[in-house]
Amino acid sequence: MEKKVTIEETENIEDIGYEENITFLPKIVDNLDMECEYRKLMYIYEAAIQEIVSKLNILKGEFQFSNDRNPISSISSRVKSKESIVYKIHKKGLPMTGSTLIHNVRDIAGVRVVCPFIEDVYSVARMLVKQKDIEVIEVKDYIREPKENGYRSLHLIITVNVEFAETSHNIPVEIQIRTIAMDFWASTEHQLRYKKNKEFPREAQKKLKKCADLMAQADNMMQEIAGNFGQEQW
Ligand code: GTP
Ligand code: MG
Repeated sequence: MEKKVTIEETENIEDIGYEENITFLPKIVDNLDMECEYRKLMYIYEAAIQEIVSKLNILKGEFQFSNDRNPISSISSRVKSKESIVYKIHKKGLPMTGSTLIHNVRDIAGVRVVCPFIEDVYSVARMLVKQKDIEVIEVKDYIREPKENGYRSLHLIITVNVEFAETSHNIPVEIQIRTIAMDFWASTEHQLRYKKNKEFPREAQKKLKKCADLMAQADNMMQEIAGNFGQEQW
């Protein structure tokens, strides 16, 4: 049976293995420092997310005033989990330090924007990247060139300038912008993949690709109905 430790016993804990504790101490302190640095770093990414989400909400509000419809259905965001960061750094064979993390993981801050129409995806992207404090680092247009499995989405890696008390930093943020139909596909495909935790069998891959193409057909038809024929070039 598990031994219950009384308060009196814990008060005497310093008496036990004193030398062992001394040799342990620096290690614990180091870890605490790292943890503190890590939290500080994550706060910076959190701040960058807040900047982007606030910009998107301002655009959304402005649209609601000047147009009769909204180009943004939903905005969600996340800071990459510690487990995913460690996994990514490990996969790249890099040491787990603050600077490798900053320079090698560009999707620590992630924002996802879901729009009704394909055209909205591009106009939201344009409105965002033309802002003075935003710089585009990379654009991956998986709508024009879908992934082999059918995944569609517009991915932007941008940096946003965030002002802190003493300094300002340009922080990278990954922004995924897609339609409701593309988001439906990506979210359900992710669920399936996550549940099975392995590669899809060939037949399932084909079906998923077919679903993605059906979503794209629906998106194009909806866009046609909305009266915007053809998409503006990025
Ligand atoms: P990562 O190492 O995953 O960041 O890959 P990458 O740097 O090549 O980025 P990419 O732009 O290809 O994809 C980044 C993100 O897009 C992923 O983390 C997912 O959120 C999303 N994504 C990419 N491909 C797929 C896919 O096939 N299915 C789903 N559901 N999401 C995807
Ligand atoms: Mg990524």
